[in-house]
Amino acid sequence: MKLTLSVIKADIGSIGGHVAPSLELLETVGTYVGDRATGLLLDHYISHTGDDIAILMTHTRGVGDEQIHKLAWDAFLAGTAAARKQGLYGAGQDLLKDSFSGNVKGMGPAVAEMEIDERTSEPFLFFAADKTDPGAYNLPLYLAFADVMNTPGLILSPNIGRGFRFVIMDVNDTTGDRIIELNAPDELYDIAALLRDPERYVIESVWSRATGEQAVAVATSRLHNIAGKYTGKDDPVMLVRVQMNFPATGEVLAPYAIGHFVGGCMRGSHQMPLMPVTLNTGISYFDGPPIVSCAGFCVHNGKLTEPVDAFVQPFWNTVRDDVAQKAMEMRRQGFVGTAMLPMSELEYTGISEKLEALNKRFIVRKELPLLKPA
Ligand code: 13P
Ligand code: 13P
Ligand code: MG
Ligand code: MG
Repeated sequence: MKLTLSVIKADIGSIGGHVAPSLELLETVGTYVGDRATGLLLDHYISHTGDDIAILMTHTRGVGDEQIHKLAWDAFLAGTAAARKQGLYGAGQDLLKDSFSGNVKGMGPAVAEMEIDERTSEPFLFFAADKTDPGAYNLPLYLAFADVMNTPGLILSPNIGRGFRFVIMDVNDTTGDRIIELNAPDELYDIAALLRDPERYVIESVWSRATGEQAVAVATSRLHNIAGKYTGKDDPVMLVRVQMNFPATGEVLAPYAIGHFVGGCMRGSHQMPLMPVTLNTGISYFDGPPIVSCAGFCVHNGKLTEPVDAFVQPFWNTVRDDVAQKAMEMRRQGFVGTAMLPMSELEYTGISEKLEALNKRFIVRKELPLLKPA
């Protein structure tokens, strides 16, 4: 059957700063969606990662469907009202437009969706990250879908071995979706040349070259580009189909053991390592570290199994310890150099205003001090 997987997420308020939504807020969103699911959704799953709430939905209406997007938007509006009532911090933070206009794209919430021919068994992974931007998935996806050092399936399985097509978006272009399509492994170095800049070039989707099936959908919206100013980090969600013609679950998860440095964390303005965490984890150290959760599912005739927590297994405790060490090491560097994002990515205007004011006070010294003869 043709099935659509849609995940729409937003930060609509949290307890104790940008930490986690309240139970009441989660329940409000869940009840809103649950009450209106009949006839529209086949199934749904509500969760949070840090201060972001994600609504995962299965249905048959295709991607970008107005009714599906409106359901999520209205659920977030209902949630915002509950967040205001509780006095939560940043109530309605990611709802950047006043009225709904057909699709939540460009309105603040992040969206990842794909329409698929449901396989006999359809295992997939739902990733959600907080305190970072969509480029955080660049390296893990490159390794999983294009690097045989990470993914032995690329040489062991004939279909996987035919490679994958990467659709990469230039998220700095605010006039429209500026994309390029590149094939791995043939154009591996071209893909790498773009992905080295995860603040600008972001993998939007990945497709099997053997079958044409979509493997990955990433939410590529940049809040910074929509609002024109800092309103919070993008905190991207992602869907990845696994097994058979796609990499195995373990091949998709393996790159998260690196704890690679990503843009985000405190005030969205730093470089910090990405920590794989268990489902429904909050935020702490230095408004971070940036976190990523992963819920594995099988979906059958649109019905979701319960989620399996991909990062709860003991292996990831060691990774978390390593990432915590890396995070503290980077924080010893404070505000200097690599610890902060470059000027173009700084999410606050304070620093450019300061530099402008200081610039006026600079002088070019006219006379060089004379050296006194010995
Ligand atoms: P199973 O034999 O347990 O299905 O595992 C196959 C596989 O490819 C795991 O990576
Ligand atoms: P969020 O985007 O997760 O709300 O984080 C904002 C922030 O600046 C935390 O320091
Ligand atoms: Mg927030
Ligand atoms: Mg967030």
